[in-house]
Amino acid sequence: MPAQTWWKKGIVYQIYPRSFQDSNGDGVGDLKGIATRLDYVHELGVDAIWISPIYASPMKDFGYDVSDYCGIHPLFGTIEDFDDLIREAHGRDLKVILDFVPNHTSDQHPWFVESRSSRTNPKRDWYLWRDAKPDGSVPNNWVSNFGGSAWTWDEATGQFYYHAFLVEQPDLNWRNPQVREAMHDVLRFWLDRGVDGFRVDVIWHLIKDAQFRDNPPNPAWHAGRPEIDSLLQVYSTDQPEVHDVIAGMRSVLDAYPERVLIGEIYLPTERLVTYYGKDLSGADLPFNFQLIQTAWNARAIAKLVDEYDAAIPVGGWPNWVLGNHDQPRIAARIGAAQARVAAMLLLTLRGTPTMYYGDEIGLARVEIPPERVQDPWEKNEPGLGFNRDPERTPMQWDGSAHAGFSTVEPWLPLAGDHASCNVAALGGEPASILSLYRRLIVLRREMPALSIGDYVPVSTEGALFAYRRKQGGQEVTVLLNLGSESMTASVPECGPGARIVLSTFLDRDEPAGDELRLRPNEGVLVVNG
Ligand code: NOJ
Repeated sequence: MPAQTWWKKGIVYQIYPRSFQDSNGDGVGDLKGIATRLDYVHELGVDAIWISPIYASPMKDFGYDVSDYCGIHPLFGTIEDFDDLIREAHGRDLKVILDFVPNHTSDQHPWFVESRSSRTNPKRDWYLWRDAKPDGSVPNNWVSNFGGSAWTWDEATGQFYYHAFLVEQPDLNWRNPQVREAMHDVLRFWLDRGVDGFRVDVIWHLIKDAQFRDNPPNPAWHAGRPEIDSLLQVYSTDQPEVHDVIAGMRSVLDAYPERVLIGEIYLPTERLVTYYGKDLSGADLPFNFQLIQTAWNARAIAKLVDEYDAAIPVGGWPNWVLGNHDQPRIAARIGAAQARVAAMLLLTLRGTPTMYYGDEIGLARVEIPPERVQDPWEKNEPGLGFNRDPERTPMQWDGSAHAGFSTVEPWLPLAGDHASCNVAALGGEPASILSLYRRLIVLRREMPALSIGDYVPVSTEGALFAYRRKQGGQEVTVLLNLGSESMTASVPECGPGARIVLSTFLDRDEPAGDELRLRPNEGVLVVNG
């Protein structure tokens, strides 16, 4: 695969469909709504949209509980709306990536309805059924990611079934070849409709220990942390046989040109990079969430970037993510000033960047009144601070009553400052965060050094993080002040004709000189002379 492949040089933009644009006045976003905002997405300059699940679903986990993998939920529209969206996107040179949720179905999926109907049903083995222990207790100590035991008793057939998430999300048995075949057919269904790739939900969960051994306790766990963290997920996730399953998906995609396979994986770097697969037979982009999880300081980030870049297997391609629908927004976590530095980091590192809708307007934490909580995790384990609603609130398009998202009160509240924090207002401000994102994307598209160039570490200290990107004769130096004090950065080898082409404050275009003054929370791009 050449370095110019779209998903290597391109930028992915995640859309949470419930919250992007409502077209029919029910307070929830939909496919037609997304279609009406494609010009915005195109003008932003990204290359692909990844849409979180739009399938038929009882919505217990907002679409991550699928009851028909080949059907669209009426809330989002129809299959015709989907075909229109693909056509409209492709007409603008935008790729469309779908969310694929293979680890579990909804308990309303016909497969599970059959599976639970009797112990002898042909689909019994499509899910993970186990007997109770002799004392009647659960088969092992595994915990659901949303709290409580991961096993639920089925009275009618006298066995437990396993669910890594909600009771209503039973896990499929990926050791069963019929499950693999059925899910490959699902992939083909969407590929044949023109989908350009998939983001695969919890891909590292797909295979569990064959003996279902107990997970060991996590010595670092303490009260206030979610129950799932009380155990180390040694036997419930990241099993060696998962790579064979992923290679199977990969081979389905390989029958179509230039499709991308992205895997959702929360693992440390040395485990994460195994998901490229033996001889790159795995995911094209095993999602790298380190920027979401790191302490926000220059030393920690320099270390993780250097280590990650060095760990990518030969021929593999890196990627970076700053936010998603499960994690506090970047501006909420590190503040508005550093969110601009984070934007420069995301869009100048080596590897495919994934942006999360709304981060480009600096959306921060939206307060959710208790009576408006939606997230099932928050409902199961309230008050721990893991509510995912604050990062799932509607996109803010303009200064009107419902921010141009809807004509009625949206399913989740808007930010208090939506009258000023919106696309229309920030798009017209030359120094806004939206203008910064646009400028960074233009530069990344114009300069091969930034999109596909090598990463060259630069030795730095204190709050400064710097690196170079090189491609052919082109060389760009990135200098980021991750602190709140000004500093003098002396970075050699930029060359006599070096020029600052961008500051995160959008107010510098000047020769770089030998020594560079950086204001608090400022990042700059220097094109070497
Ligand atoms: C990961 C998804 O991103 C999250 O939103 C969902 O709740 C779980 N997987 C379960 O599907």
